[in-house]
Amino acid sequence: MYLTEREEKMLNGENGYAARKSMEILLALGDIYGAERLIEVGSVQVAGVSYHNLGDAGLEFLNELSKDGRVKVLTTLNPAGMDLENWRQLGISEDFAEKQNLVIDAFEKMGILISCTCAPYLIGNLPRYGEHVAWSESSAVTFANSVIGAKTNREGGPSALAAAFVGKTPCYGLHLDQNRIPDIQVHVNARLNKFSDWGALGYSIGKKAANRIPYISGIKEAELDELKSFCASVVTYGSKPLFYIKGITPCSEKFELPRDVIVVEDKDLREAYENINDEVIDIELVCIGCPHCSIKEVAKIAELVKGRKISPNTEFWVATSRFAKQLADKRGYTEVIEKAGGKFACDTCMAVAPLKGRFKSVATTSAKGCYYSRHNKMLTKMGSLEECIEAAVTGKWN
Ligand code: F3S
Repeated sequence: MYLTEREEKMLNGENGYAARKSMEILLALGDIYGAERLIEVGSVQVAGVSYHNLGDAGLEFLNELSKDGRVKVLTTLNPAGMDLENWRQLGISEDFAEKQNLVIDAFEKMGILISCTCAPYLIGNLPRYGEHVAWSESSAVTFANSVIGAKTNREGGPSALAAAFVGKTPCYGLHLDQNRIPDIQVHVNARLNKFSDWGALGYSIGKKAANRIPYISGIKEAELDELKSFCASVVTYGSKPLFYIKGITPCSEKFELPRDVIVVEDKDLREAYENINDEVIDIELVCIGCPHCSIKEVAKIAELVKGRKISPNTEFWVATSRFAKQLADKRGYTEVIEKAGGKFACDTCMAVAPLKGRFKSVATTSAKGCYYSRHNKMLTKMGSLEECIEAAVTGKWN
């Protein structure tokens, strides 16, 4: 890979340990994927924040990098393993909180914004169309590529950090226009009646697209929160982190439509629900916000729980960014949700918090949330917001 004089110096350690380590990571990646050079990135989203996933080895790695590593571009952070303020309320142990705070301290020292959200585009890390970025977090990567039209590969935590310290990433994969051409046409005949249908649609298209780039037709309208949910689902269940929806997402690239066509019918969505949902009636946790809730979603939750009481057998979590929560505080949504017995889970989420063994079952609006909850050994139910809130109030899935 061609390196500029400045990049050579970084690689030789003239700019310190973190810059050298970062250049080694970027160079190795570039060599594997055949990149010819590094390109500048406008922003970085770093995943791998939860101590639950990092462990002591990960914390040590971050501490080493934080000694002299400072980010060169706007860099935001994925959810951590706990609400950084109200972790006690969510049942997090003192030991875990202590370690998680050390992880956050290391990121803060590097100059990273402690945003702790998987929807950075809702809180100010919003690339422009065509901009190169280096993001990790599959749902955010898919949103950046598909809904915004920015260009990013699906980075891992270390490669995203490396890009942040250098301000560049190897130019390969989805940074190149020739790799952003759709591979398969998908016509959606299915009716999308409720929010969770977008998760089911993502499941179905993800499975059928199987590591290809879908060009989707037949969808007449989509709200931002629906697209956010679809992004999380379609990539979790199998497609590349890029899709096009005719008439809805930016499709300005000049490509010929692929010959392979698949059709998604109502029966495919039913099949998705059957695969995502387990046989379970008693619901111990209801979690909304995968990806993190927008303020619009928080407002809707407040409207639906107003004057109701969450079952004593069930916990009800609203996972969102601290920024959305601050708006919710001002508008009175927080008070309504907490009065009903709900809890805010800011800075964290149902997949990265240490939940294994705490809850046997979960209900959510998110197909991705179900996928990761099964990793946490929970039985899962996916449904509309209304169905999930009913489960939170009655403790049962009907
Ligand atoms: Fe976000 Fe966690 Fe879901 S990172 S997309 S809320 S699994």
